[in-house]
Amino acid sequence: MSPAPITAAGSDVELSDGQLLDAYAWPPEQPDERPRFRFNFVASVDGAASWKGRSGALGDDADRRVFALLRSTADVILVGAGTVRSEGYAGELLPLQTQSLRTAQGYPPHPGVAVVSGSLDLDPRSDFFTAAPVRPLVITAAAASSARRAALERVADVAVAGARTVEPELAAQVLAERGYKRVLCEGGPQLFATFQSAGLVDELCLTLSPAFAPGTAGRITSGTPEAPLQPLLLHHVLRSQDTLLLRYTAGNSRPR
Ligand SMILES: NC(=O)c1ccc[n+]([C@@H]2O[C@H](COP(=O)([O-])OP(=O)(O)OC[C@H]3O[C@@H](n4cnc5c(N)ncnc54)[C@H](OP(=O)(O)O)[C@@H]3O)[C@@H](O)[C@H]2O)c1
Repeated sequence: MSPAPITAAGSDVELSDGQLLDAYAWPPEQPDERPRFRFNFVASVDGAASWKGRSGALGDDADRRVFALLRSTADVILVGAGTVRSEGYAGELLPLQTQSLRTAQGYPPHPGVAVVSGSLDLDPRSDFFTAAPVRPLVITAAAASSARRAALERVADVAVAGARTVEPELAAQVLAERGYKRVLCEGGPQLFATFQSAGLVDELCLTLSPAFAPGTAGRITSGTPEAPLQPLLLHHVLRSQDTLLLRYTAGNSRPR
């Protein structure tokens, strides 16, 4: 099947996978730098992060193409437990073709996978753990149930990064200790809000889905209204028919 055509906005020239990887290249790593956090979301034009409880219906082939390409350059995929529970993360997270893309770039075939959970309400018998090609990492808080923790330790590495809830700065340390420096966060809204309030969102890759999503679905972030506006820099606008693929960076400098 031919890949979904993606162009730079205003251009008719289709971008190859290699050109897309260039467009999403991570900035050069600086010594002693903390991990870099890239969030990837899809939202409808009226701001919904899901439709009927899941994000899948909002994405099209172009969104799925970029989604897979982003996975091909990440050291680890980080998600909140709510996303694991609602989106059914399980098994190999990359198709064979994307595994080959990773190996061609010098990465191991599979990125790591890490889930943030305060409650540890995660089923150790689920495919997320039993069919994972790489032993998952669970990042939790010290207050989590020791019985649930013991059950999960049979199928995953469990790390504590906070007393009552997971603190993003401590989670960043946990990831860095495992050599995970390029962190692709695939949501959801609560995890995004936590990292936003800690000032740890370096990038937002946002697919703007050309649809209204009726209903009461939340936005891609669930942060508190007291939090300050956080300005972003527009790095690029790509397009596939009516879908826009936006890359924003935080802070004062562009990534490349
Ligand atoms: N549009 C998109 O691209 C996109 C992407 C992902 C998800 N979604 C949608 O988002 C919805 C799920 O939303 P959500 O907000 O529940 O997702 P979420 O952020 O993935 O999960 C929230 C859960 O993550 C854990 N968590 C997050 N931050 C934590 C912290 N600092 N300390 C401890 N635990 C923390 C908690 O797990 P415990 O409850 O286990 O303590 C919390 O209940 C679904 O409808 C899904 O389809 C959309």
